[in-house]
Amino acid sequence: MSKPFSRVSPFSAVIKERYPLTKLGSTKETHHVVLDLKNSQMSFKVGDSLGIYGDNDPTLVQRLIAAMRVNPETSIIHPRTQEEMSVMTFLTKKANISRLTSSFLKVFPHEAGLINLLNNKIALDHYLATNDVLDFLLEFGHLPFALQELITAFSPLLPRFYSVASSLLTHPNEVHLTVAVSTYQHRDELRYGVASHFLSHLAEVEKTPIPCYVQSTPHFTLPQDDAIPLIMVGPGTGVAPFRGFLQERVARNAAGKHWLFFGERHRDYDFFYEEFWNDLVNQDKLALDLAFSRDQNDKVYVQHKLYEKGSQIWEWLQQGAHFYICGEADPMAKDVESALHRICLDFGGLTPQDAQNYIKQLRSQKRYLADIY
Ligand SMILES: Cc1cc2nc3c(=O)[nH]c(=O)nc-3n(C[C@H](O)[C@H](O)[C@H](O)COP(=O)(O)OP(=O)(O)OC[C@H]3O[C@@H](n4cnc5c(N)ncnc54)[C@H](O)[C@@H]3O)c2cc1C
Ligand SMILES: NC(=O)c1ccc[n+]([C@@H]2O[C@H](COP(=O)([O-])OP(=O)(O)OC[C@H]3O[C@@H](n4cnc5c(N)ncnc54)[C@H](OP(=O)(O)O)[C@@H]3O)[C@@H](O)[C@H]2O)c1
Repeated sequence: MSKPFSRVSPFSAVIKERYPLTKLGSTKETHHVVLDLKNSQMSFKVGDSLGIYGDNDPTLVQRLIAAMRVNPETSIIHPRTQEEMSVMTFLTKKANISRLTSSFLKVFPHEAGLINLLNNKIALDHYLATNDVLDFLLEFGHLPFALQELITAFSPLLPRFYSVASSLLTHPNEVHLTVAVSTYQHRDELRYGVASHFLSHLAEVEKTPIPCYVQSTPHFTLPQDDAIPLIMVGPGTGVAPFRGFLQERVARNAAGKHWLFFGERHRDYDFFYEEFWNDLVNQDKLALDLAFSRDQNDKVYVQHKLYEKGSQIWEWLQQGAHFYICGEADPMAKDVESALHRICLDFGGLTPQDAQNYIKQLRSQKRYLADIY
């Protein structure tokens, strides 16, 4: 049912609701974003992700157009679809405006500075790694060039993925997302990641079209048998799918037990969805362990909490529990797997080789499931 929307033909949703999950004083910024899927007939299962196309930051687009010295309304042809559109639309919606490649350099007359760069691989690699398209155009945009050739040099703006953080059983016609704003320093400027900035700040609620489609993750979902216990490890935005899992299991009145390991920086500022988890704990539907990494001198991470509860984790695994992990691939997911390995040794009494085989077997039985990025 999620067809016909796809990467090449996305649905145009709007944001129905958006609010910060991090509190004033937090050292980061994460938002809950609810997209309206009304009239889309778009369907997904918990564990899926949503592919989103964000607009580029308009201030960066304007600076780029000024450096190109062109009228923003000038028509160009989108090099991949052959559609006619304005330079402004192309740069806002279709182009990766930060990634500089050698194709850009070839569009300009080979005056001295460019010849030196194009003929020296080490210097070229360094230049491409330390400059973005805007830096390049500020340096060379005064030279004559063919606009359509420059347009063709841009890489496409790719979709970004966000885990579905809700169940259709609880929130029909909506999809909820947990979006961490990504930032980075470029020279002396603080810049935002494209899609997280778009979803968190630029897109207007109930107004701005959000092109999106379901990216199905067949491997990462609930077991069909509702009695199977679930162990879920999701620090940061990795917790998103587990909100969906729990909504779905509660709506299905599942008999199975649930255990969530969540971690963030500070309990006072970064405890996402606190009320939802606490309600489930109070109803005896969830065991919750928390790792707030920066509330004390030594780092406390989800894998430390997991190991502390190693004896019970081993018991749950013996009862057939499924083990889920979501969030940063490296080092978080690797460290969690090491903790699980140690649990097999210290609480399961396995040899290192048997512990490795045990985890391998969990994987092949689809009981160790990861969605990591
Ligand atoms: C399956 C999957 C599920 C995911 N689920 C979630 C989720 O639930 N929530 C969530 O918040 N994220 C999730 N992500 C990550 C998300 O898809 C994006 O990668 C993330 O939001 C950053 O995208 P962005 O467009 O904001 O930043 P981008 O524009 O992609 O930039 C990302 C980073 O690249 C670097 N960068 C970009 N441009 C430059 C430049 N010019 N110079 C130097 N460095 C640069 C910076 O470090 C920047 O922070 C998921 C990813 C996958 C694959
Ligand atoms: N400014 C930015 O651009 C920015 C900000 C935040 C996140 N991000 C990126 O966004 C993505 C998702 O971030 P997120 O908000 O979901 O979470 P995150 O920032 O990656 O971290 C969530 C929690 O996990 C902890 N953590 C760090 N390393 C860990 C490890 N090896 N094992 C277990 N826990 C670990 C963090 O602790 P500590 O941080 O205290 O070590 C924090 O408490 C990541 O790729 C991250 O790099 C970017």
